[in-house]
Amino acid sequence: MSVSDFLTKKFLKSLFFPSHNRGEALPEGLIRLLKKQPGFWDLPELPEIGSPLSSSGLIHDAQVSISKKFNAKNCFFGVNGASGLIQSGVIAMANPGESIIMPRNVHISAVKACALQNVIPIFFDIEFSKETGHYIPITTEWFTNVLNNIDFENKKIAGVILVSPYYQGYAIELEPLIKICHQHDLPVLVDEAHGSYFLFCENFNLPKSAVRSKADLVVHSLHKSLNGLTQTAALWHNGNLVEENKLIKSINLLQTTSPNSLLIASCEESINDWLNKANLDKYKKRISDAKSIYKELKNRKIPLIKTQDPLKIVLNTSKVGIDGFTADKFFYKNGLIAELPEMMTLTFCLGFSNQEEFIFLFQKLWEKLLMQNNRSLKLKPIKPPFKLVQSPEIPIGVAWRSKTYTIPIKEALGKISGDIICPYPPGIPLIVPGERIDKDRINWIETQSLHNEDLLNSYIRVLPT
Ligand SMILES: Cc1ncc(COP(=O)(O)O)c(C=O)c1O
Repeated sequence: MSVSDFLTKKFLKSLFFPSHNRGEALPEGLIRLLKKQPGFWDLPELPEIGSPLSSSGLIHDAQVSISKKFNAKNCFFGVNGASGLIQSGVIAMANPGESIIMPRNVHISAVKACALQNVIPIFFDIEFSKETGHYIPITTEWFTNVLNNIDFENKKIAGVILVSPYYQGYAIELEPLIKICHQHDLPVLVDEAHGSYFLFCENFNLPKSAVRSKADLVVHSLHKSLNGLTQTAALWHNGNLVEENKLIKSINLLQTTSPNSLLIASCEESINDWLNKANLDKYKKRISDAKSIYKELKNRKIPLIKTQDPLKIVLNTSKVGIDGFTADKFFYKNGLIAELPEMMTLTFCLGFSNQEEFIFLFQKLWEKLLMQNNRSLKLKPIKPPFKLVQSPEIPIGVAWRSKTYTIPIKEALGKISGDIICPYPPGIPLIVPGERIDKDRINWIETQSLHNEDLLNSYIRVLPT
C-alpha cells in the first residue's frame, strides 16, 4: 500500500492531531481553496504573495492585521511546525555560549536548537505526580526557588523557556512567572503549541494566553490547537527584550525559501476563522460540549484526569491496572485512535469537530477493554531523577558533534550521551547530549520503558571514555 492509499483509510474515530479531525473542522476559506482544481493553488513566492518575512505582499498584510488585533509587535506564520519557530526563537534569544533556562518537559526542538547554536540549556526540574505519572504545573514559588539556585554571576543567561499547556492540558499561570523574568531583564519564550485557541477565547474560563500574559515570544502549533493543516504554526513577538532584527534573521536562517502556499493559506485561514464572531461562537460551543463530555464520562465512573484544556480527555488507565500503551493498542485495534499513550494514562484529543457520538463509543470500548483485560498491574512511576537545576556535563553542542559509538541503553552506565533519547509523542527528551547516564537515569528509563517495547530495546550513541 502506498502512503497516499493509506491517507484515505477510514477510522471509526480519530482523536489525534491535527485537530481539524480529518478535515471536518477545517476553516471554510481553506475548504473553498481545496475544492478548486487539485494543485492549482500551489504557487511560488510571487510578488503579490511574498513570504512571512517580506515587507509587503498578502502574507505580510495578513500577519500585520492579525498582530494588530492582539496588540502584538509581530506575528509570523511558519510552515515547519511549532518546532521550526521554537528553534528560531531560541537562536534569536541566545548567542553561542550563552544559557537558556528551561523546564525538563521542554520540547525536543528547543534542545536541538541548543545543540545547533551551542547554547547551554539550564534544565530545571518540575514537581511530579505519582498518581498520574505527569509533571505538575509549575508555581511561582517553585520557579522562584529555581531562579534562586541559578548562578547568575558566572553564567550569561539569555532567556527562559516555559511550556504551557503541557501535552495533557495542564496549564501554568504564566503572568507572574513572566513578570519575575522581566524583573531580571530576561525574555520569555512560551511554547504554547497546545494552547493556541486560548488566545481567541478570553473570559471563557480557559487559561490566559501567553500572548495576553506578555510573553516576549509565543509559539503556537496551529494544527494541534487550532484547525490548521499539519506543519502550520505561528510565532508572536512582543516587547523589546528580543530584538526584532535578530528574530527575523533567525526565522530566515531556518525557513525554507519555498514556503508552501497551501500551508501559508492555512495559517491565515485558521487564525481568521477564530476571529470571525459566528465561527468563534461555534468553537465555544465545541469547548462547552467537551466539558460536558468530561462530566458525563466522570458520571459514568470512567477514571479521567482533569486538566485545564477541555479538549484533552485523559484516561487514567492505571486505576484499573492497565498501562496506557496496552490501552492504546486496544483502542487502536477497535478503530478509536488516541494521541498519547503513557505509562499510567492515555490521552485523546477531541479537536474542533462535532464529537456527539464519542461518549457512547468510548464507554462501549472501555467496558470491552475491562472485560478483555486480565492483567492488574501495580503501576508505580518513579520520580524523574533530576536535580532542581542541572546542565549537561559536556556542552550539548560539543557532545552532539563528538565522535560517538552505539551501545544498548542498558549497557550505557557511566557514559556521556552523544544522543537524544526522546519518545514521540510527547517529544520530551529523557536524556540529551552531554548528560552522564548514571544509575538513577537508567533505572528511570527502564521503568518508563517497561510497557513501551520500542524504548526498552533502544540503543544510544555515547562518547568514548
Ligand atoms: C509542547 C510541544 N511543543 C512543540 C511541539 C512541536 O510542534 P509541531 O509538531 O507543530 O512542530 C510539540 C509537538 O508535539 C509539543 O508537544
